[in-house]
Amino acid sequence: MRNIRFQLFLLVLIGMTIAQTAMAQGSYNEPYRPQFHFTPEKNWMNDPNGLVYYKGEYHLFYQYNPFGNSWGHMSWGHAVSTDLMHWKHLPVALAEENGVMIFSGSAVVDWNNSSGLCQSSDPKDKSCLIAIYTGHIEGKNQSQHIAVSNDRGRTWTKFAGNPVIDIGYRDFRDPKVFWHEATKQWVMVVVLSKEQKARFYGSKNLKDWILLSEFGGAGVADKNVLWECPDLFELPIIGQPNKKRWVLIVNINPGGVAGGSGGQYFVGKFDGKTFTNDNPVETKLFLDYGKDFYAAVSFSDIPKRDGRRILIGWMSNWQYAGKEPTVPFRTAQSIPRELKLKQTAAGLRLVHTAVKELQSLRGAVTTKRNLELSKPQVIASGEALEISGEFSVSKDATAIIRLSAGTSETLIGYDAAAQTLFIDRTKSGEVSFDRNFPGRHAVSLQPQQGKIKLHIFVDRSSVEVFGNDGEVALTDRIFPASKVQQVELQGANSKCLALKVWQLKAVWK
Ligand code: FRU
Repeated sequence: MRNIRFQLFLLVLIGMTIAQTAMAQGSYNEPYRPQFHFTPEKNWMNDPNGLVYYKGEYHLFYQYNPFGNSWGHMSWGHAVSTDLMHWKHLPVALAEENGVMIFSGSAVVDWNNSSGLCQSSDPKDKSCLIAIYTGHIEGKNQSQHIAVSNDRGRTWTKFAGNPVIDIGYRDFRDPKVFWHEATKQWVMVVVLSKEQKARFYGSKNLKDWILLSEFGGAGVADKNVLWECPDLFELPIIGQPNKKRWVLIVNINPGGVAGGSGGQYFVGKFDGKTFTNDNPVETKLFLDYGKDFYAAVSFSDIPKRDGRRILIGWMSNWQYAGKEPTVPFRTAQSIPRELKLKQTAAGLRLVHTAVKELQSLRGAVTTKRNLELSKPQVIASGEALEISGEFSVSKDATAIIRLSAGTSETLIGYDAAAQTLFIDRTKSGEVSFDRNFPGRHAVSLQPQQGKIKLHIFVDRSSVEVFGNDGEVALTDRIFPASKVQQVELQGANSKCLALKVWQLKAVWK
């Protein structure tokens, strides 16, 4: 008897040691844990912050609660990557201090030490990193602050003269800063959230700012909507060399196209002082038609020779973010997307495509051609998948990619009669944690020469769908019954002309 007890004791001890080792290494294998999307090892995350490229590294800062798995004690978590895919976690960069939380914001490279805060001893390189964020005092005030890092983002010092902009408001946040070459000044876009206004400020040194202009009363700007996390940048137009236009992103909560939080944008001109909208005030343009793409902002200082505008969004929605059924972490960031402008019959529109770095994760591939969709068939299965397909869609066609896991199913489909692309997550598994979670999210999409193209990324608990080379995007989280999902084709009056399904490699191994 004593012997059996001793053996049991030993087994428990060994079990505990294995579990502890797995935890210490961050196993990244809990239920719903994304395999190629960014998630912190543990605790709560929301918006991506301070996206910047500097000296060979992409920096991803993010709204983070170092003390638990729900919103609070907001600080900037930090990770770096050399390829936008594999992230190395670093210690919290900016922590809540003296009752001031670190809300969302941006980071820039101060190449010529305009701030006087860079302390380089190298005469050929005077640069340092400057973070610009909102200091939040609960219930009282939001103001803009800066912090400096002289060691490639590893340690940060808050500026002694903070705040750099304080107008005595409670809802004045999320500064995004960039260098405006034509007027040789730093420009900040920041929002008066409750007034649905973006403000533009200018500065020569990142410390002293003057108000340039305001923009508001356009797009989704109803009284109950909060404007949050703006961004402003110039983009090339596909197929029109030397032509560019400015894009102003304003994230909105609520008022998102699928309900709750989402992103909108405006296309126009920016002359270093004023943003002029190309479209009438009632024009509403949305970034993504799913329900889980919020607080999307782009990287600063991507080298000129690369020239891309790369966007990351928070894959959640304030309607239910705090209830998502994951432990010990909560929420994930989207895949990085490259943005371009495309001339369409309706005007200039943003096009999103997955960054090319994702191709480096491709493993085994299943290839199919000319499949009649009237007979449902399983094509592949896996946890992390990239699916690329082309479908002929006659007038009454439906073409569906069904992701199934035991009793759960997520439908990604095209309905030719309605000319819509949709994700239906009504029965996608765990959906009951909030009444706003289950549902079907759709966007109109026209076939081109009777065909539609789909590009899809599935990562255990998320689906990102790009239609017709990124003309539209839909992003949704799902919480299916198992890590592995089957990819099944079904439909009517439609043919899958070509299909590829890649297994994607996990980035956390
Ligand atoms: C957007 C947001 C920002 C704010 C941050 C606080 O999701 O509400 O406006 O800075 O989250 O965590």
